Order: sequence, then C-alpha cells, then structure tokens
Amino acid sequence: MKIISINGEEVTPSLNGHPWDGDNDLFAKCVAYDEPERAQALGIYPFFRPIEEMDGAEVICEGKRVLMVGSNNYLGLANDSRVVEAAVEATRKYGLGCTGSRFLSGNLVIHEELEERLADYIGKDSALLFSTGYFANQGALTCLFEEGDFILCDKENHASIIDGCRMSPAKIIPFSHNSPESLRRRLSRLPAEAGKMVVIDGVFSMSGDIARLAELMDVAGEFGAKFYVDEAHALGVMGEAGKGSAHHTGTADRADLMMGTFSKSLGCMGGFLAGDKDVIKFVRHKARCFIFTASPTPAVAGGVLKALEVMQEEQWRVVKLWENTRRMHRGFRELGFHIGTTETPIVPILIGDEQKAFFFAQRLFDNGIFATPAIYPAVRRGQAIIRTSYMATHTPQQLEYVLETFERIARELHIFEDDVYQRAAGEIPQRHHDTSLPQPVRTAAV
Ligand SMILES: Cc1ncc(COP(=O)(O)O)c(C=O)c1O
Repeated sequence: MKIISINGEEVTPSLNGHPWDGDNDLFAKCVAYDEPERAQALGIYPFFRPIEEMDGAEVICEGKRVLMVGSNNYLGLANDSRVVEAAVEATRKYGLGCTGSRFLSGNLVIHEELEERLADYIGKDSALLFSTGYFANQGALTCLFEEGDFILCDKENHASIIDGCRMSPAKIIPFSHNSPESLRRRLSRLPAEAGKMVVIDGVFSMSGDIARLAELMDVAGEFGAKFYVDEAHALGVMGEAGKGSAHHTGTADRADLMMGTFSKSLGCMGGFLAGDKDVIKFVRHKARCFIFTASPTPAVAGGVLKALEVMQEEQWRVVKLWENTRRMHRGFRELGFHIGTTETPIVPILIGDEQKAFFFAQRLFDNGIFATPAIYPAVRRGQAIIRTSYMATHTPQQLEYVLETFERIARELHIFEDDVYQRAAGEIPQRHHDTSLPQPVRTAAV
C-alpha cells in the first residue's frame, strides 16, 4: 500500500473510505486529502462562505445578516455608491474587459491616468498597474534580479513576496522579523559588489505590526542595498492622507520601490508598483506577469480612480478608522485576549489550537459575526488566530457587540486554559500598552 506525505504527515490514500492503491497516480494525494470534509462533518469548516449581499460593515451570508470583521475594506469604500457608479460608468464606456495585455491591445487612457495619479499621490516618478497586488510583487521581484544578486526578505513577509522571491534568480536571505540587527548580520556576510534589495511589508498582514522602516533603511543604506516596501495594508490607513507606512515613518524618499494594492482600502482589486521612472520602465517591459496577462478591467481603473479621490477628500474615514482601532486594541487587551504586537486595524486574536480556532469562528458566525481563522502556513503551527480587522464604518455599538461576543465564546471554549494557547502565548511577544498611532501623522512615535 502506498504511503504518501501531505504537509509532512504520512497518510494512506483511501477512496470513499476504502484503502486505495494509488501507485503512480498523481492525484492520489487529492483523494486522500480530506481535511475540509472532516471540518465540514464537525460543522466548523470556516472557509469559502458564500456571501449573498454586501453592505459594508454588514453582509448577508447563509441567509442571515452578520457583522463583517474579517475584510480589508478599511475605509468602507468597496460599497461606496460613487465608487461603484464610477466603475459602472467606465464599464459602459469601454466594455467589460480589455481582452488583451497592456503591452499589446489592452492599454486604456484610464489605466495611464490612474498610473499618473498614483505616482503623484505616493510621491514617486512613475507607477505601473498590475492585475493583482500579488502580481505586482511577483512581477517586480522576478524581473529586477540576476543570478548572483540577493533579496533580503523579512521572515513574516506576505506569501506574494515569498513567491516572487522564489521565482527570482536572486538568492533569498531571510532575516528575523522586523529586526535591523538580524538584517545587519545578514548583509555583512554578503559580497560587497553583489546587487541587493531589502523587501518588507510596511504593515504585516497577520500580526498587524508596523515595519521599523527608518532603522531598517539605515542598515540597508550602510551596505548599499535597495529598499522595497509593500504598502498593501498601509495604504489608506497610515501616513499623511493615507499614503502608507513609508510616509508615516518619514522614509518615503528613501524607499526605492513602493508596492500597493487596490484590494484593501481602495475596495477593489489590482495593484501597483511605484518608483524611479527608469526602474518602472524596465519592469513595464520585463515583468512576465504584467506582459502575459490581460490588463485590469475598465471597472477597476474607473472605480479605483474614484476611490482614490474619495479617500483623499474624506479624511474623516482615516480618523474614524483609528478611533475604532484604538477602541478594539484597548477592549481586547482589557478582556485578557492576546493580540500580539499589532498597532493597526488588523487585530489577531490568539487561539492556538487550529480546531479550536475553527470552533471559535463557527460560534462567532452563529452569533452574527463574520471573521475567519488563520492557520498554518499563514501563521506558525500551534499559533492559530482569529484574524479580525476593523473599518471606518463600524459603529461603536457594533464594536461593543464584537468584544462582548468574543469574551463569551472564549469563556465557553475555555480558550485561556488550553495548553496550546498557553504555549503560544509564551512564544509570541505582546504589547501591553496602547501604542496605536494617531492619524494622520508624518513621523513614527512608536
Ligand atoms: C502584504 C500583502 N501584499 C500583497 C498582497 C496581495 O494583494 P492582492 O490581494 O491585491 O493580490 C496581500 C494580500 O492579502 C498582502 O496582504
């Protein structure tokens, strides 16, 4: 009988419950993979919940209205009628899709207008659109390097950065999370003449902490390394007019490349890379996932142009987002939850055991709250979380309800007494005081 390995665990393939000799069958592992079915049988499968209607802070899901605390719609713009109308208008004018790459037949005037507006907004020479934020990272990180170059990559960087690094001819050198000391040690061992770039999330997507950009850039500068900041979760959230973590920390001029997404604060999908005009020209002509894929739809370009305008005009959204963020940091800490080192609207609630995290998410849903667990490989094994995130448009009543409900379910499931939780709580650093930053600000006060 063939034994196969799934995620490092040895399993015997079975077909509909019967042992199955799937020798040489490439798909044997798919037949044997039954984790989703096992969670479904327990009624705790938390993924792919179909949403029927979306109304910003609330959605209709599985026939009931639930409060959304699991999206990245930080400013509530995904459902803003002006943004939606702009997307519809662009669709009417240009059609549903461009049916071609920007490189060839899919380049619209509004794509170029959006690139100019983004470059101007973020304070760089030039910007380049990608169909997703994932592609923006992959495109830049694969085409800018040659064999013999090095990418210094924070160990908690987003999967799109890791995947981009893996596809690049450069050697990947991981450094300890957010640690200038570790970065210095790594850089000091590399050949002085080699090309190098430090790549980091400005705001980390699972822990919610902020990159120590000024110190990391000082170190990179000592060794002549270029610096790349992923602003996916910082855009619209931090810095003057929501320009991101580099602006927030006063380091935007020292960031050689800034990458952003439209899939979070801007409420849409797509991404961009911004930097020096020669670098952007190079990426525009070399990045395979830019060249060999259809351009962003007219709806994306039109909708994001409008979202960018609304975001800049309506500063109250950022102010409200931070009021809500501070309330939730304080509230969860007062209730004894372990929320790690977050300083942003991403608030990870430590549960520890994966199955308990699934149960927790299901109990939340039963109580009218939509939030999903994050498990390995998104977080380390035994450090499962419920990843919550907050929006400018959540009301104080909604937030109080979230806190009350989390407290009740944590008691019901004995979360804090669990061994796995206690071990994880001992391993993950935690901030005990409120360091959430007032917005908008220009310099870091952390
Ligand atoms: C830090 C970070 N970078 C990049 C991405 C990819 O962005 P997108 O969803 O727009 O492809 C994400 C998405 O979650 C992210 O969290």
